Amino acid sequence: MGIENMTEQRGSIAIVGLGPGGFNQLTPEAKQALERATVVIGYKTYIDLIRPLIENKTVISTGMMKEIDRCKNAIELAHEGKQVAIVSSGDPGIYGMAGPIFELLSARYGAHEAPAIDVAVIAGISALNASAALLGCPLMHDFASISLSDLLTPWETIEKRIRSAAEADFVIVFYNPKSKGRTEQIEKAIDIIACYRSKQTPAGIVRNASREEQSVIVTTLDALLQHPIDMLSSVIIGNSNTFQWNNLMITPRGYDNKYAL
Ligand SMILES: C[S@@+](CC[C@H](N)C(=O)[O-])C[C@H]1O[C@@H](n2cnc3c(N)ncnc32)[C@H](O)[C@@H]1O
Repeated sequence: MGIENMTEQRGSIAIVGLGPGGFNQLTPEAKQALERATVVIGYKTYIDLIRPLIENKTVISTGMMKEIDRCKNAIELAHEGKQVAIVSSGDPGIYGMAGPIFELLSARYGAHEAPAIDVAVIAGISALNASAALLGCPLMHDFASISLSDLLTPWETIEKRIRSAAEADFVIVFYNPKSKGRTEQIEKAIDIIACYRSKQTPAGIVRNASREEQSVIVTTLDALLQHPIDMLSSVIIGNSNTFQWNNLMITPRGYDNKYAL
């Protein structure tokens, strides 16, 4: 190893889950990863959420739909020896930045070739955890998470997954339920579920969980679309046993079948 190389620092990427928004739901591990980083990269909205924690760092924030550019940038900077944190809302492994980072790395390196940089995924509280906690315990039994965005997944595939999850009586969590330009998918999704479940099935909408504008609505499958839903919302539809209690959604685990409660 030459003198120059001995002083070179090995670069790293921490793919950091910021949780749903509030600092109280940012894990200590995520905070440490942000502290260690010299460069922080992310979507502008998420960077703005953590501004006070990343003063004195190089910050690269870009707009929506620039995920791949952000990931390529993170990988290049890490190969230059920088300590990079790339941030995701919620958990980075759930519709977050871990996917594209690993896909790009696996295109660059062979299946058994160790990369020249360190890579770590720092788990975060996903929107489904944060939303479920605000709604009571809707995810107490088997559930399926489905993104309604058809930007990267064909609608036929999404529809098939909704139908299968509804038929198999999974509690269903919808991520990316609706945007300004994409309004029909949630309507179609509810129509499909209504083929398998009672119209009175409890349903919840959590918007901006753990952020200042947080709102929580508990309603029913047939009334769901009367409430505001957007890209900052997560929607949870109960299974055939889910019931409402004190404006919460309770999905039984099955204890009352085995023990007298
Ligand atoms: C691209 S996905 C990112 C998911 C994220 N990686 C996670 O684990 O929560 C974006 C979607 O997550 C959901 N979401 C993210 N943050 C949320 C929050 N604070 N409250 C409710 N839903 C949220 C919304 O459905 C939004 O459209």
